[in-house]
Amino acid sequence: MRHFLDTADLSRKELGRVLELATQRQEALGWPLADYGVALIFEKPSNRTRQSMEMAVVQLGGHPIFTRGEEVGFDVRESVEDITRIMAGYHAMIAARVIDHGVLERMASLDEVPIINMLSDKSHPLQSVADVLTMREELGSLSGLTVTWIGDYNNVARSLAEACALEGMHLRLGCPDGYGADGEELSRIASLGAASVEQLDSAEAAAEGAHAVHTDVFVSMGQEADTERRLRDFAAFQVDENVMAAADQNAIFMHCLPAHRGVEVAADVIDGPASRVVRQAHNRMHAARGVLAFLCEENDITKGDTK
Ligand code: CP
Ligand code: NVA
Repeated sequence: MRHFLDTADLSRKELGRVLELATQRQEALGWPLADYGVALIFEKPSNRTRQSMEMAVVQLGGHPIFTRGEEVGFDVRESVEDITRIMAGYHAMIAARVIDHGVLERMASLDEVPIINMLSDKSHPLQSVADVLTMREELGSLSGLTVTWIGDYNNVARSLAEACALEGMHLRLGCPDGYGADGEELSRIASLGAASVEQLDSAEAAAEGAHAVHTDVFVSMGQEADTERRLRDFAAFQVDENVMAAADQNAIFMHCLPAHRGVEVAADVIDGPASRVVRQAHNRMHAARGVLAFLCEENDITKGDTK
């Protein structure tokens, strides 16, 4: 059974197929989820991921059911395994935003229904599909182009790095000491097909020649107790006009959102002409539809099946 816990679960060719499906509209895709439910469980807040996944399920003919994490209570109210087996009787797929990536792995290991990662402490693969979709729209073929990540090498960065490597891009990371990728991780990303992988300890240096500059919050959900230290450590890593000036003159700025103007990005940049963050957020829905349609294809989920 095919699940979608990480971007690198896909081969380069399969990512291409997901992106192709993401650009197709209903007439081409049919209603593979007709008569099915899709469970959407959130242990953390969400705007884009919830809205885009709900709409993508509807666009494929299915019925999304949103549930807050505390309502199911992973390993508190009942075990992850019991929750998964029960929900698999109601739904064609289960998607979850979890505190601990290991919960998704336990769900997927049961092979009851396809499991989709809607953000974990490790990764955010749905975001990376929308990111690549947006960069392809803006920049054309991505192979050989340069993408820069500035900030925390965390969930969003890890998935973006995987996606950009699958696309054959040059990846440049600009991270403060202690917040970057280790040597093993840099090798892993390179082995996925990146044209090159480089990590620097300055935002301006990392942005040099970049065709797309990405960042994310400096304090992720669940890290609030560490806010003071993080803001101090990341102080020199704001994407401002100096950083964008180091990039290619037609470079675009991207951010998964939510954003904090004046913290990880200057208002002039996120609200300026290089910013593609609104298109990027809108593409979350098309990316979600592509992922769902791909999992239907791979797992032989077609309209009219009964469980
Ligand atoms: N980018 C993203 O995942 O946004 P939400 O947290 O609002 O879903
Ligand atoms: N890194 C952020 C991404 C939010 C979409 C977080 O985990 O909170």
